[in-house]
Amino acid sequence: MSETAKLELEGKVYELPVIQGTENEKAIDISKLRDTTGYVTLDSGYKNTGATKSKITFLDGEKGILHYRGYSIEQLAEKATFLEVAYLLIYGELPTQTQLDAFRNSITKHTLVHEDMKQFFEAYPAKAHPMGVLASMVCSMATFYPESLDPNRSAEAKDLTIHRLIAKLPTLAAWSYKNAIRHPFMYPKNDFDYCKNFLYMMFGMPTEDFKVDPVVVEALNKLLILHADHEQNCSTSTVRIVGSSNANLYATISAGISALWGPLHGGANQEVIEMLEKIHNDGGDVDKWVAKAKDKEDPFRLMGFGHRVYKNFDPRAKIIKKACDDILEKLGVNDPMLDIAKKLEKVALEDEYFKARNLYPNVDFYSGIIYKALGIPTEMFTVMFALGRLPGWVAQWKEMTENKEPIGRPRQIYTGATSREYVPIEKR
Ligand code: SDX
Repeated sequence: MSETAKLELEGKVYELPVIQGTENEKAIDISKLRDTTGYVTLDSGYKNTGATKSKITFLDGEKGILHYRGYSIEQLAEKATFLEVAYLLIYGELPTQTQLDAFRNSITKHTLVHEDMKQFFEAYPAKAHPMGVLASMVCSMATFYPESLDPNRSAEAKDLTIHRLIAKLPTLAAWSYKNAIRHPFMYPKNDFDYCKNFLYMMFGMPTEDFKVDPVVVEALNKLLILHADHEQNCSTSTVRIVGSSNANLYATISAGISALWGPLHGGANQEVIEMLEKIHNDGGDVDKWVAKAKDKEDPFRLMGFGHRVYKNFDPRAKIIKKACDDILEKLGVNDPMLDIAKKLEKVALEDEYFKARNLYPNVDFYSGIIYKALGIPTEMFTVMFALGRLPGWVAQWKEMTENKEPIGRPRQIYTGATSREYVPIEKR
């Protein structure tokens, strides 16, 4: 492969370095382009632009491949626990038993939220969307832990800041739900594992013993692993650019939560279920809704379909679709939304419009059906996505800070008015 790419501009030929990653991805390094040619590149939505080099997650959109630190998502979803995957993403290797025990013990020790933060919840209106609560609460953590304000302190201080966040996010998430339904908050229980503890804080009541089907705990573990990282997606890129200003981790992750909330990104899982329910209530005529999705005059899009990178199947959607059948059968749940989702998928995948645009179900298309079967309310679906994505955001932030990457500051091409004189108001 040539080490350089040649670029001819205004009669001059420039040579630009070419780099190749360990999975044979290729890039033209344009970091010196403006200095040498006076030109910048333009790429709205960064569809063709690599923002960084990373060792964390590899995905191949054509082959439907997703690896965390070299391990396939299929193996990890089947064999690992969520905290094990969180450790792998953040520290780069699968933990030994000793390392995992220490990591788990540290997380367990920090699941409580500062009592003063409970008052914030009471100020929110009932039915406050939990993503708005979560983004605010996570940013507020920086005011309770001033030592977190300097992200580049010692490795130990950085680990404490990270472990506090991984430990408290489930508590904050569950309390935002309990607050919305005006139920009493449930405090974390140290003898429950990460997933069971979250379910306890979500559905437990102080008046009765907590029982949960192991199928539900295992399904949650799998879903969190499948959402744990996804290279430079919208919310992760947000985390990287906010973190690149040396903002503290809590403010940085709060920005990631806000980006994930968007219906074109993590908010799609809530939109999918609302879309399926709309189709169901409209009589279940999927052909009608597929036609609406294709109609340029109609703003309706098939939520949970399409992806910037996957131009074949999304490997996570394949795993979640299979898990849907298994979990609903084990739980004895018969959800008409699953039948509608499958009919919608079949019709769309046979339709030229979707085939021509490589539109396939993505991670959000089936995940909501499982969350619903687990008893998770629709407004909490994107919070579940944030819970899963947290270790990925943290890993990407940690890699960016430790590589001492420069502050993110893209250029632009100006297309506005050229220089002109001020006109006094009486003459306008
Ligand atoms: C996530 O990046 C990640 O990795 C994200 C994520 C992660 O793990 O972090 O995987 C999580 O965000 C998954 C995506 C969740 N969003 C949705 O399901 C919302 C519905 N899908 C889209 O709006 C869309 O497909 C995107 C946002 C996912 C991708 O958009 P792109 O890559 O910018 O593609 P596009 O909007 O330019 O669409 C290309 C064409 C257009 O038609 P034409 O202009 O060429 O005629 O495909 C059409 C679009 O109109 N199209 C759709 C469609 N998605 C794209 N048409 C109908 N329904 C859809 N869902």
